[in-house]
Amino acid sequence: MKRILSRRQVRNTVAGLAARIRADYGDKRPVLVGILKGSFVFLADLIREVNMPLEVDFITVSSYGPGRTSSGEVRLVQDITTDIAGRHVLLVEDIVDSGLTLDELRQHLLRRSPASLRVCALLARRSLLAGDPDAVDYLGRAVPDGFVVGYGIDYGEDYRYLPDVWMLEDG
Ligand code: IMP
Ligand code: MG
Repeated sequence: MKRILSRRQVRNTVAGLAARIRADYGDKRPVLVGILKGSFVFLADLIREVNMPLEVDFITVSSYGPGRTSSGEVRLVQDITTDIAGRHVLLVEDIVDSGLTLDELRQHLLRRSPASLRVCALLARRSLLAGDPDAVDYLGRAVPDGFVVGYGIDYGEDYRYLPDVWMLEDG
């Protein structure tokens, strides 16, 4: 495995995102919706860096199962419980690969008429951003292709506990 972000780089990246979110949302009391399971470590750090009034909810989707390649189908496993009509919603994702999960979740949440809906992701594929530079509103880092693990991100439920972010060598 190759380390692509040290815990210090992760911390700096999260702090940078948090500063932008705080500046943009001020007193709007946004609802941060973490996409489970991968985003829970990132979201936990992010809200403490943002350090302003906000609410947290979670949505669980499944697209990968036990393997390394997406099934190409996003299944909603558990929905949010917050009424987001008229609220400012920020979706929080660990890593955006094809963008399919975000597309589906955007459509799903927009049906409930939030005041706004944006996306914050720690990581996104360079290849996706080349074709769709605006895929993510608040982006931590662009990463090359290859399977990423650590800092909440798993491979078959393993490696989530790693404090740094790694690329599987043969990804
Ligand atoms: P997308 O729908 O193709 O954008 O895939 C996004 C989802 O797949 C995210 O919720 C991630 O949790 C997961 N994912 C994408 N790339 C990776 C990876 O390299 N390692 C682990 N999970 C990934
Ligand atoms: Mg995920």
